[in-house]
Amino acid sequence: MQETILVTGGAGYIGSHTAIALAERGHRVVIVDNLANSSRRAVERIGELARAEVDFHEVDLVDNEALGEVFGQHAISSVIHFAGLKAVGESVAEPLGYYRTNLISTINLLEQMEANHVWDLVFSSSATVYGDPDLLPIPEDAKLQPTNPYGRTKLMIEDICRDVAAADDRWRISLLRYFNPVGAHPSGRIGEDPRGIPNNLVPYVMQVAVGRRDQVQVYGDDWNTADGTGVRDYIHVVDLAMGHLAALDHLEPGCDVFNLGTGTGASVFEIIKTTENVSGRPIPFEVIGRRDGDIATSLADPSKANRNLEWRADRSLDVMLADSWNWQSKHPNGFADDDPGAPTDAPAPDPDGGGASPMPTS
Ligand code: NAD
Ligand code: UFG
Repeated sequence: MQETILVTGGAGYIGSHTAIALAERGHRVVIVDNLANSSRRAVERIGELARAEVDFHEVDLVDNEALGEVFGQHAISSVIHFAGLKAVGESVAEPLGYYRTNLISTINLLEQMEANHVWDLVFSSSATVYGDPDLLPIPEDAKLQPTNPYGRTKLMIEDICRDVAAADDRWRISLLRYFNPVGAHPSGRIGEDPRGIPNNLVPYVMQVAVGRRDQVQVYGDDWNTADGTGVRDYIHVVDLAMGHLAALDHLEPGCDVFNLGTGTGASVFEIIKTTENVSGRPIPFEVIGRRDGDIATSLADPSKANRNLEWRADRSLDVMLADSWNWQSKHPNGFADDDPGAPTDAPAPDPDGGGASPMPTS
């Protein structure tokens, strides 16, 4: 059945991949995004790749009135809420901006949903709510102990969702705790496009592979892991997108929470090596000291989502990194490469650089 789904933050990295999957499933997609960390190009590409019309509203969710107008214009049946600020370091430096944006946006959204009798919500939480875990792999009922303001906004929003669902049994809410999303759409037409210097490992490694940066700084090789570097549960963004469709299909009254990960870890050195293999490019690196707030290992126990959502992330690390490279090699400067006159700091793309993965479209 065709439904109208509001995707907040739908121009962003995970939201754009999810919007494609929703439109391909036949849903009508309405995107609200203020483009604070994304490009209008991504919205155009969603329509092009899904061969569907996508309604786009450039609106800040902090502006409750403007958000209300969007609800007034569409018969929305459910919401996937991606919009928010997500840089850990920035959240430490500017906590008030993070609390303001992430919390007020969500409160406005929940108020508008209630006022318009929309009760179905899927929310982007994060493995960051577990902080430094006591137990590996991490189950959903592990201790919640975020270590930075960004993580605390995620936990506060989870608590707000649990409270509204407890107060009114019409709510059906799914909180999805993502582990480390990487990869890109197999077309190479959309992908992760961080502003400035990437904070996260895979975008950084890709920018080194494409010649935009000299070398990767490895944050410590003295962790208690097999090769001494940090281990994370990387998940392909298309698998993650499909997890949202599964969550929508399996919404139940109340508020439930699911880890979305693969359950398999990869170290920093494995990411570097695999990227060298899929790109055919050397990735120079230097080992420096540990980054503040880092942990040795983060690994999901995804069995609850596997069972209850009938969903599994099965794309391999090779496919994840081949797809990241496919996107990066075709767009050394991200979406800016498609804007004539936009400043660039990368060499011209290598015509041999783009090795598309054998993965079928989602
Ligand atoms: P992203 O920055 O690419 O996407 C977020 C989108 O929200 C952007 O397009 C941005 O412009 C928009 N936005 C921000 N503030 C807004 C506001 N006030 N009003 C309207 N739009 C606004 O990030 P992403 O990686 O796609 O992450 C999506 C969600 O998943 C975020 O909530 C993030 O915290 C969460 N998450 C991300 C990761 C990750 O590693 N990428 C991991 C766990 C959780
Ligand atoms: N790393 C490096 N060099 C870099 C960047 C990262 O060695 O330039 C290492 C880190 O020390 C860590 C691993 O690579 O061992 C992964 O680091 P990321 O920054 O890519 O990912 P994190 O797991 O640290 O954090 C990310 C998001 C958080 C989110 C968390 C869980 O940034 O917001 O995943 O979803 F909470």
